[in-house]
Amino acid sequence: MGLLSKLFGKKGVEDNSSAPFVNPVKVEFHSHLIFGVDDGCEVIEQSIELLRGFAALGMTKVITTPHVMSDFYKNSKDNVYPLRDQIRKRLIEENIQIEFEAAAEYMIDDGFEKKIASGNLLTFGPKGKHILVELPFMTEPRNLSSSLFELQIAGYTPILAHPERYLYYANEKEKYHELKDRGVLLQLNMLSTIGYYSKPVADAAAYLVQNNLIDLVGSDTHHIRHMQLLPEVINHKLYRKVCEAELLNNYL
Ligand SMILES: [Fe+2]
Repeated sequence: MGLLSKLFGKKGVEDNSSAPFVNPVKVEFHSHLIFGVDDGCEVIEQSIELLRGFAALGMTKVITTPHVMSDFYKNSKDNVYPLRDQIRKRLIEENIQIEFEAAAEYMIDDGFEKKIASGNLLTFGPKGKHILVELPFMTEPRNLSSSLFELQIAGYTPILAHPERYLYYANEKEKYHELKDRGVLLQLNMLSTIGYYSKPVADAAAYLVQNNLIDLVGSDTHHIRHMQLLPEVINHKLYRKVCEAELLNNYL
């Protein structure tokens, strides 16, 4: 049980405060566990190790979200679903009790609107109408507004991945509110709470949490190093604060 001892080693998940804290989030929906299709897991053994870790952290369901980007990651149902099925088979063989689904994390790039028009998107949620989208880290894409509009008129609910990581919004915080006002759900990366990406990202995360702008949390786990930090996240006061909000994870 190497992974479990790594997860529950010195830092552990035990509570430091007076009242015991139980992580209320049971559905994890942002990760890169489909092996060999993006910058996440490379082989199925890594996928299984991480899923074993999510089960140990108390997750009952994982919806994994490989990148889809026009130039780099041309993932679709055609390659993702068969790999998902291979992983499901291994979960049964290894008796790992966790529900496992696959969707995607779509970059809003020049090719995205064509994908919306195709109607063949990797989605999730109770009606299969939730879709995870991300933006470039340097600049807001020109077609952000039109893409969101097209998603919504087609009946999808867009969830924006890690808004705290787009630092062009950090000095223009009204943008967060504008996105919320137009019905975009915001997903905080768990690792942002502990300053994993940078101090400005942690500050933006704190702003979003303190202003009740976060609808969901996700781990964005690509590899074991991310997972090893999750117990520290769960012990962090900003994570506990966001858990006081009515997060939508468990409805997915
Ligand atoms: Fe991601």
